[in-house]
Amino acid sequence: MAVIPVALAGRSYDVVIEEGLLDRIAVAGAPFMEGYAGGRRVPFVADTNTHRLYAAGIETDLGHRGFAVEWFVVEPGEDAKTWGVLERLCDWLLAIGVTRKDHVFALGGGVVGDLVGFACAITKRGCGFVQLPTTLLAQVDSSVGGKTAINTAAGKNLIGAFHQPSLVLIDPLVLNSLPDREMRAGFAEVLKYGLLGDAGFFAWLEAHGDIVLARDPAALEHAIATSIAMKARIVAEDERETEDRRALLNLGHTFGHALEAETGFSDRLLHGEAVALGMVLAARYSARRGEISTDGAERAARAIAAAGLPASLTALGLTCNGAALVDHMRHDKKAEGTTLPFLLLRQLGEAYVARDVDLADIAAFLDEELEA
Ligand code: GLY
Repeated sequence: MAVIPVALAGRSYDVVIEEGLLDRIAVAGAPFMEGYAGGRRVPFVADTNTHRLYAAGIETDLGHRGFAVEWFVVEPGEDAKTWGVLERLCDWLLAIGVTRKDHVFALGGGVVGDLVGFACAITKRGCGFVQLPTTLLAQVDSSVGGKTAINTAAGKNLIGAFHQPSLVLIDPLVLNSLPDREMRAGFAEVLKYGLLGDAGFFAWLEAHGDIVLARDPAALEHAIATSIAMKARIVAEDERETEDRRALLNLGHTFGHALEAETGFSDRLLHGEAVALGMVLAARYSARRGEISTDGAERAARAIAAAGLPASLTALGLTCNGAALVDHMRHDKKAEGTTLPFLLLRQLGEAYVARDVDLADIAAFLDEELEA
């Protein structure tokens, strides 16, 4: 078991990691259920998959302690992060009489967490929520740190708010039912922490990535806890990404976003896969600028390939050129006027924000990578 505090003035909370937590949700989440003791139902939001897998167990556990559950269930996938679903969710929260002291339980991956967090940010000007992340990606990244959002026609995550959860409960056992491809995609975000800020952790992941992916309990808990400890530190230093600290968590995301846009934000390339390849490109581009060594960049690429993640542009079979990918980057929400900050690597375990990157040079680099 690990308990990692996220220290924020007036809004500190714990991330608890423990096998079987979901089966003990009534005890683990007890401090945030007190308001329901008078017979009101505890609101849970899930997608159809997490509802099918866990609803009965949660109802039984809460039932033993005299609580009943009220469910709001969405379809799985990004289509749940829309104005329409947000409106229905907020209306539902109002209909069940949620108060600002109440907490809503978000059971699912990043989509459910982002949607519930945003609904709770705006309903009655802010009510509480508890994150119960069920994918590796949500466990090590999106459930912690308070970024909440929906998607609109203009792009992903462009409408949202910073709204911190009151508690994050991570049960690594739920990953046993996660498809291997999604497990690998989440592992890309774990590798990200090593690459951006902890060379020792990166070396540990090189040696133990296979057993993390095989869900070895001790290795998995170490990987999750180390990732969250770094995220908690960074979020505590720069909660709203106004300095260049939290931006480090975007390593691989600018290249990755362009690849996701080019592949239509589809199953052809999952977010974590795009981030993985984006990190390879960031490392290789950094080496081209004379920062990280070529050996270091190729070590990063090898670790990503060893995890079964895409490590070269040619493997994607894209038909576009570098300029088209750069065009997608211009719509990135991190764009600052006509420039774009890039997360680059000085060495393994040391990322930094570069503001002197020429987009024409990025296009030329991508053309080289597309032909490599
Ligand atoms: N996923 C990046 C962040 O939370 O800042």
